Amino acid sequence: MLAMIVLVSGRGSNLMSIQAAIEKGALDGRINAVISNKREAAALAFAKEKGLPAVWMNPKEEDGRMGYENRLFSEIEKIGSDCLVLAGYSFLLNWDVFRHYGKPILNIHPALLPAFPGMTAQRDALAYGVKYSGCTVHFVDGGMDSGPIIAQKPVPVMDLDDEERLSARILAEEHKLYPEVLTWLARGRIRRDGRIVRVLPDDAEEGGGRG
Ligand code: GAR
Repeated sequence: MLAMIVLVSGRGSNLMSIQAAIEKGALDGRINAVISNKREAAALAFAKEKGLPAVWMNPKEEDGRMGYENRLFSEIEKIGSDCLVLAGYSFLLNWDVFRHYGKPILNIHPALLPAFPGMTAQRDALAYGVKYSGCTVHFVDGGMDSGPIIAQKPVPVMDLDDEERLSARILAEEHKLYPEVLTWLARGRIRRDGRIVRVLPDDAEEGGGRG
């Protein structure tokens, strides 16, 4: 069973899709804690509703940004998990601290990386005029949305799209892709070789097909 700690900052819809996959038995995992840098995050309220440990870590304490990163890291180590799952977490993890975690750290991003990293991916995709955007699940490294790509799902950009409409269609794909990637991780199917990530066939599936 894959033990996860989920880092959030806001709405928490990806967290909900992961929890839903666990509840319906599609993902053999459990969420050991949901940690937010924002006290008012809807994701924290959802975690409490589900009886999951919900932790608010205040980045604005007097120990400064590095102090926050160290407190966050200690909390994560104390709780324990097999992986860290970033789901709409609005901070870049400080790599001087988190390189010592030693287990997979995953993130989901609402664009086809390496295009449009950062916090305004859907707006940037529309402004650039691409005909396809989508979402990416990737390993986290020290950079902004720059780690090795595990999986991507393209989403067509429609002529009448605005940011809200495109974001909603991408989000619907995020909710399928993230739990699916976590099932690959739970089953030990993900192999990483530098930047290249491969997904091994599923032995449990007849024919061993991907996905
Ligand atoms: C999601 O669209 C996620 O891909 C994005 O924030 C949203 C969080 O929604 N993440 C990034 O932009 C990371 N650069 P949620 O709180 O409802 O899961």
